[in-house]
Amino acid sequence: MNSQDIPAIMAKLKFSSVAKPRSIRKYWFGTLLRGNLIRRKKLLKIGIAGLGFMGQMHYRCWKARVDAQIVAICDTNKNIVEDCKKTVGNIEGAENAIDFTDINIYHDFAKMLEEEQLDAISLTLPTYLHAKHTIQALEAGVNVLCEKPMGLNVAECDSMIAAAKSSRKVLQIGHCVRFWPEYAKVKEIIEGGEYGKVIAATFQRLSATPTWSYENWIMNEQRSGGVVLDLHIHDTDFVQYVFGIPRAVSSFGGKDSSGRLGHVVSQYLYDNDSVITAEGGWALMPGFGFEMSFNIVQEKATIVYDCTREPAFKVCPAEGEAFTPDVQQGDGYILQIDHFVKALNGEDVPTITTLDASRDSVRIVEAEKESIRTGKVVSLE
Ligand SMILES: NC(=O)c1ccc[n+]([C@@H]2O[C@H](COP(=O)([O-])OP(=O)(O)OC[C@H]3O[C@@H](n4cnc5c(N)ncnc54)[C@H](O)[C@@H]3O)[C@@H](O)[C@H]2O)c1
Repeated sequence: MNSQDIPAIMAKLKFSSVAKPRSIRKYWFGTLLRGNLIRRKKLLKIGIAGLGFMGQMHYRCWKARVDAQIVAICDTNKNIVEDCKKTVGNIEGAENAIDFTDINIYHDFAKMLEEEQLDAISLTLPTYLHAKHTIQALEAGVNVLCEKPMGLNVAECDSMIAAAKSSRKVLQIGHCVRFWPEYAKVKEIIEGGEYGKVIAATFQRLSATPTWSYENWIMNEQRSGGVVLDLHIHDTDFVQYVFGIPRAVSSFGGKDSSGRLGHVVSQYLYDNDSVITAEGGWALMPGFGFEMSFNIVQEKATIVYDCTREPAFKVCPAEGEAFTPDVQQGDGYILQIDHFVKALNGEDVPTITTLDASRDSVRIVEAEKESIRTGKVVSLE
């Protein structure tokens, strides 16, 4: 389609290109040019706080939407325009080619909230800033999609939940794995019951040591919560999503050469005879990169996923050939933003992630850390 087609399309839609006020004509023109017709009266005004690895990931997802416009970016790094051209992170998808045209850059979060009329922000700041900045944004009347983990501890999570309730704004925590197409599908398959009960489920998330972060905050336990809260929580949260809050956890940790916890293995204990475990580590060597995977052993099928394998996702039933089920298009980052936007628009959204569940994942992680520290099984009841 080119711009000459627009009057014809408008006529079809019973809109006259001359009868509408200029702003509306401009809106239709903009959305049509982007190849899609949407019904919203205005684009959502989006801000991104923290344009590091995840900020660039969220940028890619927001940029692809026809109903939203990134109008502001806040990052304390004064060289952010140049620095964000560098590759960051352990997963592909962070956008280095940021188009700063029409985006106001701020180095002060409060100033951005004050000067922009934002509908929502992606809060992709280091974890130690999640609670403070989320609460500040909610109090300023801005909806927030805050990266995981929700906060550094349960107390921070509780204060964020209270702020969300009193502001009546949407707060969603970026537990993207719940939205990851293969993970969402395996939950659906397990709950469908076609293959019987789960005998065992193992989840793995392994990474080379993160080197990209601002002031190396990720490697500072006080600022990131370390490997268990920062990396492994993805699987803790997914275990909770599929199997519920465990009765107790039993965890073991391995320390790296500087004495830091670099690897965790947890068993989640339930009142049944299934074995549910997850392993997370970031002490792997640079050449390793990143891997996430799961193996679900059911009575009548084995379901496996490994992001480094081809095909990555396979259902191996008791009878018949192994097959790869159809999954939703997109990745967890795109799909979680889609969910967030639907919630903002007041649409009926399925309960995929809740604030209480995000807080509970931090609670389970705290129990895992205690179990590693004490060598004991830690109850969650
Ligand atoms: N969902 C996922 O898969 C995933 C993956 C990696 C990280 N994360 C989470 O995303 C969050 C960000 O992690 P990251 O890897 O992008 O970190 P990062 O260090 O790459 O990016 C943080 C950015 O925030 C900026 N910043 C720091 N303090 C600031 C402040 N006061 N105001 C404005 N900007 C400030 C830094 O300059 C930097 O650009 C963390 O909570 C992390 O746990 C999630």
